[in-house]
Amino acid sequence: MPNELPSAESTLALLMSRRSIRRYRPDPVPEEMLEQILEAGRWAPSASNRQPWSFVVIRDPSIRREVAQNAAAVVIRWAHAAEAPLLIALCGHAGNPLYRQFLHEDIGLAGGQMMLQAKALGLGTCWLGGVDREAIAAILHLPSDIEVIGVLTVGFPAEEPPAPQRKPLAQVVHHDVYGNQTAGAAVSAGHVRGGPLSIMLRRLRLPFRT
Ligand SMILES: Cc1cc2nc3c(=O)[nH]c(=O)nc-3n(C[C@H](O)[C@H](O)[C@H](O)COP(=O)(O)O)c2cc1C
Repeated sequence: MPNELPSAESTLALLMSRRSIRRYRPDPVPEEMLEQILEAGRWAPSASNRQPWSFVVIRDPSIRREVAQNAAAVVIRWAHAAEAPLLIALCGHAGNPLYRQFLHEDIGLAGGQMMLQAKALGLGTCWLGGVDREAIAAILHLPSDIEVIGVLTVGFPAEEPPAPQRKPLAQVVHHDVYGNQTAGAAVSAGHVRGGPLSIMLRRLRLPFRT
């Protein structure tokens, strides 16, 4: 385990450069890389540290083919599920009903960390959510209390897709209360100070005190 951590800048660069990869080279994923990807998932946070995941690593060509046949949503079959040399089914075990509510967050965090570690290793991934989870659970012989939350395709990328646009921070960030999109603007008694005109002036950054 390296002692030195990557810089904040290089971490953000890694996060921003990860893309969903939908074309793969046939080369197999080296075992030591796979181990690092699984390790990244194992170290994800989870509610009460329950670690309610099972990662089913699918290398066998016939099982991969069967899973790929069920990697489809409505009329779209995801061709990259068949092309990727490796699939990882991200499975969740709710156990106690109280923890059901956290299952998708827990598995999502593990999958996210795995995708980033794969990117750091020069591999591509794509999260497949549009899949027939029950059919895949049956193919993988999952016990009835374990469910498929998603499937990751993994392999060396054969494409460099452009980054799909992200909404600007100014659109998605709110300060203190929803609707207040100006940092540092005063909020009192749960309300944004000022009416629509003053909010508009603040947005335009005009030099009026409102
Ligand atoms: C929960 C979830 C489900 C997704 N399901 C699919 C899918 O079924 N098929 C697919 O090709 N991509 C799928 N994606 C990938 C998204 O389309 C992709 O993350 C998004 O377009 C942003 O692109 P980027 O990952 O390259 O930044 C899924 C992503 C997430 C997080």
